[in-house]
Amino acid sequence: MGQIICRSLERSKAVSRSQMLFHRRDPQKARAAEQEFGITSTSLETLIEKSDLIFLCVRPSQAGPLLPQLSRSGMEGKKLISILAGATLSYFEKFLGPVPVIRAMPNVASEAGEGMTILTPGPYADEAFQSEARRLFACMGQTVELPEEHMHLAIGIAGSGPAFVFVLLDAIARLAADSGVEYGKALQMASQTFLGAAKILLKGGAPIEDLLRQIAVPNGTTEAGLKKMRELELGARYQEVVKAAARRSAEMSQEIK
Ligand SMILES: NC(=O)c1ccc[n+]([C@@H]2O[C@H](COP(=O)([O-])OP(=O)(O)OC[C@H]3O[C@@H](n4cnc5c(N)ncnc54)[C@H](OP(=O)(O)O)[C@@H]3O)[C@@H](O)[C@H]2O)c1
Repeated sequence: MGQIICRSLERSKAVSRSQMLFHRRDPQKARAAEQEFGITSTSLETLIEKSDLIFLCVRPSQAGPLLPQLSRSGMEGKKLISILAGATLSYFEKFLGPVPVIRAMPNVASEAGEGMTILTPGPYADEAFQSEARRLFACMGQTVELPEEHMHLAIGIAGSGPAFVFVLLDAIARLAADSGVEYGKALQMASQTFLGAAKILLKGGAPIEDLLRQIAVPNGTTEAGLKKMRELELGARYQEVVKAAARRSAEMSQEIK
């Protein structure tokens, strides 16, 4: 996810390569990434010294040893954006003290410029920092601000969401492929249909009930499909998927306390 963020910032010209530094603990991987992205890698200490804004993009379980290092290197005058699922604002405050922190939950669709990033500013993040975070993540798609209490659910909906959508699209495409349609064409049909439906809603069109009434003529094909969706309780089942991811995020915040 860190690489996606770097690439998106660079591609959108929000931040130039020369303004970015990154740190990876494995020197070989650092060199490979340097060559791939044209961004300079450096030690953690130098990165902290030279940066005013630091993106923390490790896995939640990998943050434990890093935060004391950040704290030791001196975070005074620095700002931190964390994309870690489960790592709460109070967790950062415990290690770093009154450092401006914003929790961001992006998703992999940022790579396609259609990301959804949820932002939760910490108590020391002033309006200028919040607006900077909105501007940076807006280069990758849309941003929404939510209080921290809703972050777990937001992770289930958006952070992990693309994976769930991929599974649904693959299932639809395989059904068509089983009937002889080329898998790539089937995936295109399914993906564009999801995208088109989502765009109608994002444009702020009619309420969903009205849209359903417009499409589903009595005794028609859509009505048949909707009836089956209700029988299968597909909406409620998808809610269970989102809830499982949200539960895991809540567990993670306990594990890394
Ligand atoms: N993947 C998603 O869709 C997504 C979406 C939203 C948010 N997130 C959040 O993004 C974070 C990263 O997820 P990911 O999927 O990108 O995981 P990932 O591919 O495993 O990336 C984690 C990166 O952190 C590096 N790292 C670990 N410890 C380090 C240390 N001490 N110093 C420097 N680098 C270190 C790892 O380097 P090595 O290769 O050396 O191990 C690796 O490059 C997670 O906290 C997750 O909650 C992910």
